[in-house]
Amino acid sequence: MKSIVEKIVAIYERRGNEKYADEEVTQLQHALHCAKLAMNEQAPSEMVVAAFLHDIGHILGHEALPGGVNEDLHDHHEETGYAFLSQYFPAVIADPVRLHVAAKRWLCTTDTTYAERLSPTSYKSFLDQGGPMSEEERREFEAHPNFAAAVRVRRWDDQGKNPHEVLPTMQELLPLIDAQAA
Ligand SMILES: [Fe+2]
Repeated sequence: MKSIVEKIVAIYERRGNEKYADEEVTQLQHALHCAKLAMNEQAPSEMVVAAFLHDIGHILGHEALPGGVNEDLHDHHEETGYAFLSQYFPAVIADPVRLHVAAKRWLCTTDTTYAERLSPTSYKSFLDQGGPMSEEERREFEAHPNFAAAVRVRRWDDQGKNPHEVLPTMQELLPLIDAQAA
């Protein structure tokens, strides 16, 4: 196992039991549910890993971040998660983590029923994060090489909140994570 895998385990053991936003699941349950949704769709391993790690920025300690990353990023968990993960994982994993907040804005902009299906907390954060995209923002987002992967992670993110879901364990995912780490 690479040391990044041990770091990830330590992060989830330390703070994985924190509540996920105003939902009825913990951070770890949310991460595992998103990974399960990816596996159910037979998504490639890198997508399963991205789904599992997409919100790690919520529970990272600043000691995990590379030098020079501004500590004020604590309100921007997608940037914090990206700064951490991009040290160890390829862009196909790190980019969707960075883009999953923008992906919600894109989904709400391009599919009006999407916004209606968000939980109240998720809808509020959508507005706080900038609300609908402008034409220019939309074009820029769609041009990103990992745009489609980001949208996939986002769809799992919005579904992965069921407290009654039977989940895989984190241990089961570690070989996948290890295989993707540089
Ligand atoms: Fe999430």
